[in-house]
Amino acid sequence: MSRFFVTTPIFYVNAKPHLGHAFTTILADSVSRFHALMGEETYFLTGTDEHGDKIVKASEAAGQSPKEYADQISALFRGLAPILGAKPNQFIRTTDPDHIKTVQKVLQKVYEAGDIYFGEYGGHYCFGCERFYTEKELVDGMCPDHKTKPEYIAEKNYFFRMSKYQGWLIEHINEHPEFIRPARYRNEVLSLLESGALEDLCISRPKSRLTWGIELPFDSDFVCYVWFDALLNYISALNYPRGERFKKFWPAANHIVAKDILKPHAVFWPTMLKAAGLQPYQSLNVHGYWLVRDTKMSKSLGNVVEPKRMVDTYGASAFRYFLLREMAFGSDASFTEEALVGRLNADLANDLGNLFNRALAMTHKYFEGKVPSPDKEFQEDAELKHLGLEAMQGFQANFGEFRTARALESLWELVRALNKYIDQTAPWTLFKNKQMARLGTVLYVVLEHMRKVAVHLWPVMPEASEKMLVQLGMPFEQEKIALPKEPEVWGVLESGVAVAQTSNLFPRVELPEPTPPAPKEATAPEAKKNKTDKPLPKEAPAPVCPAESIEFTDFQKLDLRVGTVLSAEKHPDADKLLVVQVSLGEEKPRQIVAGLADRFSPEELVGKQVVVVANLAPRKLRGFLSQGMVLVAKDAEVTRLLTAAGPVDDGGKVA
Ligand code: MSP
Repeated sequence: MSRFFVTTPIFYVNAKPHLGHAFTTILADSVSRFHALMGEETYFLTGTDEHGDKIVKASEAAGQSPKEYADQISALFRGLAPILGAKPNQFIRTTDPDHIKTVQKVLQKVYEAGDIYFGEYGGHYCFGCERFYTEKELVDGMCPDHKTKPEYIAEKNYFFRMSKYQGWLIEHINEHPEFIRPARYRNEVLSLLESGALEDLCISRPKSRLTWGIELPFDSDFVCYVWFDALLNYISALNYPRGERFKKFWPAANHIVAKDILKPHAVFWPTMLKAAGLQPYQSLNVHGYWLVRDTKMSKSLGNVVEPKRMVDTYGASAFRYFLLREMAFGSDASFTEEALVGRLNADLANDLGNLFNRALAMTHKYFEGKVPSPDKEFQEDAELKHLGLEAMQGFQANFGEFRTARALESLWELVRALNKYIDQTAPWTLFKNKQMARLGTVLYVVLEHMRKVAVHLWPVMPEASEKMLVQLGMPFEQEKIALPKEPEVWGVLESGVAVAQTSNLFPRVELPEPTPPAPKEATAPEAKKNKTDKPLPKEAPAPVCPAESIEFTDFQKLDLRVGTVLSAEKHPDADKLLVVQVSLGEEKPRQIVAGLADRFSPEELVGKQVVVVANLAPRKLRGFLSQGMVLVAKDAEVTRLLTAAGPVDDGGKVA
């Protein structure tokens, strides 16, 4: 059986989890689920990196011991995965006793092999990065990452003979195109390796300077450099050297990191493995950075995006969809809540949600809520199937290479084609003309494709995908799904099975109102000014009258009437508009151009009684005359037509 081992970086416990950590975790979870559906045995590892200067400094600032502090922040990272709907198989901590033993075992092995030696070194040390920089690497004498001046430190330390493996590494990268992906990072590493001699790596810190680390097994005056310690988590988690898990999964190791930690993973790690007599990982997959708008996320700028808030507001499925759809693999992406809301409304509410709502409603209206039996296949059905096949194959090929944005783009070609197929085959007309056999085929083609879409979406939105499948009467059973065959299989959905009445999985979302800045607490001197000594009111009382009230005579100007929708169709060139004909009991029906296409399909409107503003001045909207306005009621989640509680003659007045 083919296997897939995926890892996230283990996160530093010096700050709370943010969007960047959440993204890597979601990406790892989604590719792990994808490979599981492809029939592979998977193992997904994440965890925390807890030793080193950085953590000591953060714990001191919090007034805690490093261990207490690490326990607390590590728990936040452990709790992040379930919030995101991610299911790692293991959460490792570098303070775990088993990990410590493995690090010492590897250090001893490499030391005995002669690849660790004792020497003196003077270099520019950046405490933020916890590493020495060469003159060449500094930018204007500053750390390229922290933009601070590193400290010159000269001390005796242990060194790993990394330079010895430079030639081997260049060759390995050249011979294995998938070793570092995407190609831009592979090229970056190759040019770094080819531009000059690789230096040896300082892998110890004297205890006189740092005690919070793993003691070197061959010299108790030193602790291990945090990167040498941390990278080994990837094999200590698998119970290296004798663990069954190690044998099974190490050959299938796929690391995921962002571009910030390319060098340790692409240069330190493979050379460490080589020196320890181990085969290199299979593939290093490097994604870009999430910026907030176009600025780096940072605590000092106050623009850190909290994943939990996003999940609480939009749901884990929607948040995951946005991140995986928006970031092109390897490139930076910009996060804004506006972009998130826009994407959710366009792709989920409009395209996918609308497809589910329409198809389920029609199955109920025309076939008593049961999946119909298909009849003869028409040319248009075969064409749609072909498009679907290519869309799903495109999804799979891209997802397998971590290109989730392209994968979803490909799948959405099918989602959009399904909506178009419904518009073109016009089930409501088939029903009117009593062409029930054809109508059954059309709906079956749509529902079976919806099932395929839902199955493909499981890695991206596990929760929503499972709900979609329940709505289609086919609850998710992982062992029954063979994703590689899905593009081609046909007829899995059983005729006669009951489907849900409505979907409502992806309601339209709105940007939350910006929270007003918290009113300042009264400071002590101000409090003294308050003669009554009562606490100062925090806010001005809300005005009793809404600011813009109207007179009754203003209201009387409105001519609101009840009318029946006789027909409705999509505007040919405006996605959001429907052109509806409404009978108001007048000689001729009124034509109204309504911005309702993203919430209602034409067939949902036909036959309904609606409330219309009948005396709105006529105007042309995208080339069509509009003589009125259809009213709706809406909240944050749903939009409903405004109608009378019972039948009213067309033209009846709302008063
Ligand atoms: N502890 C090291 C990794 C050791 S792995 C053996 C470390 N930790 S970290 O907490 O700083 O996490 C860095 C990782 O978090 C990045 O590689 C990336 O996976 C994720 N991200 C942190 N900020 C990010 C963005 N702004 N955007 C995308 N991901 C980023 O480095």
